[in-house]
Amino acid sequence: MGQDRKFNDSKAHKLTTEERKHLIEPDRILQLAGLKAGASVLDLGAGPGFFAIPAAEIVGSSGQVLAVDISDKMISMLQDEIASKGISNIQVLQQDIQEEQNQGKEFDFIIASLVAHEVEDIPSFLSNWMKSLKTGGKIFILEWQKKEMSYGPPINHRLDPQYLQSVFNEQRIHAVQLHEWKDYFYYVVATKN
Ligand SMILES: C[S@@+](CC[C@H](N)C(=O)[O-])C[C@H]1O[C@@H](n2cnc3c(N)ncnc32)[C@H](O)[C@@H]1O
Repeated sequence: MGQDRKFNDSKAHKLTTEERKHLIEPDRILQLAGLKAGASVLDLGAGPGFFAIPAAEIVGSSGQVLAVDISDKMISMLQDEIASKGISNIQVLQQDIQEEQNQGKEFDFIIASLVAHEVEDIPSFLSNWMKSLKTGGKIFILEWQKKEMSYGPPINHRLDPQYLQSVFNEQRIHAVQLHEWKDYFYYVVATKN
């Protein structure tokens, strides 16, 4: 990963503000993307749990969430939040999501929120994690719209949604939906066939 693209974890507190929750509405977007009760979820680059925590609420006690992040600070913030809220269906794992995975575990739903633009090799990243989806399972990718705005990463670090679409096409994943989300974001939902 280019270090210059990596989110600076000294700003981790900015990821959990009420203003951000109001702006992104993680629970609503997850439900629109098709997350259901009972699902097994993998959250890649989970940070302090902005998506992992609402995902755990949606999937309920019959579902589970595995939240993965590379940063000590993010992992410890998420563990504190899980403990203080008494959440029992989130597991936390410190790991580099750019490394090849082959744990034989399959999920119903994968979340990659605002992390794909930090990844060096997007085609390998996607093909690698698609292997961890069950057939019929979905990957949900949230990214910044590729236009100038007063916050978020610089425009040259942002991912063009058409590029993501083309990577899925090359990998013969054709069930791909693309939606703009508010004025700042878009999300892609791809279903494994
Ligand atoms: C901008 S934050 C987004 C956090 C969370 N997904 C959200 O939307 O609030 C990006 C996160 O991805 C994590 N990350 C970046 N590269 C990673 C990698 N190679 N392996 C694991 N985590 C990574 C960072 O530590 C950070 O927590």
